Amino acid sequence: MNEENLKILVIGSGGREHTLAKICNKSEKVEKVIVAPGNGGIAKEFDTVALDVENNEEILSTAKSMGIDFVVVGPEVPLCNGAVDILSNAGIPAYGPNKSAARLEGSKAFTKDFLAKHKIPTASYGNFQTCESAIEYLSKCELPVVVKASGLAAGKGVIICNTREEADSAVKDMLEGSSFGESGKEVVIEEFLEGEETSLHLICSGENYVTLPMSQDHKKIGEGDIGLNTGGMGAYAPTKLVSQEMLASYEESIVRPTLAGLKEDGIDFRGTLYIGLMLTSNGPKVLEFNVRFGDPETQVILPLVDQDLVPVLIDSALGNDLPDRLTVKNKSAIVVVLASKGYPESYPKGEVIHLPEELPVDSEIIHAGTTLNENNLIVSDGGRVIGAVGMGESLQSARNQAYKLCESIDFTSKYYRKDIAHREFSRV
Ligand code: AMP
Ligand code: GLY
Repeated sequence: MNEENLKILVIGSGGREHTLAKICNKSEKVEKVIVAPGNGGIAKEFDTVALDVENNEEILSTAKSMGIDFVVVGPEVPLCNGAVDILSNAGIPAYGPNKSAARLEGSKAFTKDFLAKHKIPTASYGNFQTCESAIEYLSKCELPVVVKASGLAAGKGVIICNTREEADSAVKDMLEGSSFGESGKEVVIEEFLEGEETSLHLICSGENYVTLPMSQDHKKIGEGDIGLNTGGMGAYAPTKLVSQEMLASYEESIVRPTLAGLKEDGIDFRGTLYIGLMLTSNGPKVLEFNVRFGDPETQVILPLVDQDLVPVLIDSALGNDLPDRLTVKNKSAIVVVLASKGYPESYPKGEVIHLPEELPVDSEIIHAGTTLNENNLIVSDGGRVIGAVGMGESLQSARNQAYKLCESIDFTSKYYRKDIAHREFSRV
């Protein structure tokens, strides 16, 4: 493919895609970045084009009609629908796994069987399609126990059950109810793991991979990690939780067996592999695989990379060898998510967002749930509205920048956690 003056199409509409568009736009190889469909803030900075990301034909015709050289697919839904297969079969290289490889995120049951087959550490489990067999299995499980809808559920398909009644009703709700749709037609019942969670992101090209800085997300809505689960209320990187030696051992026990196992099973994995790890007293265990960059982790890990990422993404998409490692800045980054009060349940939309006229150094505003109203003003349009990113020589200075930025952004229902990275500050 032509690798100069590239026209890149980024697919998606969240904070992850805003960051990906900025990273691509910095590349010397790139002439233009277009985002489809994007959001209000993205539209102020990049060309955007309306697109239903669940419609592969529309993705292909948009890429063709705009003369796109390379596509970066952000979210899991088009990846699981085979958007990359459609594009690459039509001669347009696209970053991300193909449909078969994307099952690592699209089916938790598939992933658990894969992990068991290749002896990769994970929680003990059972996969079930009928209530009777699931409830029979639950009767022998220790509490708490975790019930998961096998398919995609936008982060809502995991229920940690403290009583047998709760677990039985979670299983019934998934297998017989309608709240999880097709995604709940199979359930995974899993041992509850205790420990700290961390996100390991890799860019892969078959068995070749490069690691990105280790990060930690904050899934709960409330300070002190309490309350309902969200898509992520903030993240930071790197983390002292995982030393270089520990990372090397995770590569040995988890990363290489995973990529070798995929190859053995006939899956050529290209794109992002995001490994959700629980660091238990019995060692690290895989909680989940995602086949795309984390959101909001992307907002902190990609800006820490100190080299042009576009050639790496292209090499991954083409199945070429990757560099041994990426050059990473000796800095820290934090993103604090500004949400609409009420999220992850019901929340208002359409509130005008006031942004600072000048951005302080080492900070960045990343748009997620925003749109433009009839007066071309940026208004809130989702639960997670904006990511306030701070960078610095230390985590403390990154934090100061991020929180200063949070205070300078206003909308009526603004809510954010004041304790992002609290675990890292409590580590000695
Ligand atoms: P998943 O989508 O499978 O990563 O699950 C979402 C969240 O649920 C994880 O980030 C964990 O916080 C929690 N979780 C999932 N599985 C387990 C488990 N087996 N034990 C404890 N917590 C879990
Ligand atoms: N922040 C969690 C995720 O992207 O899945």
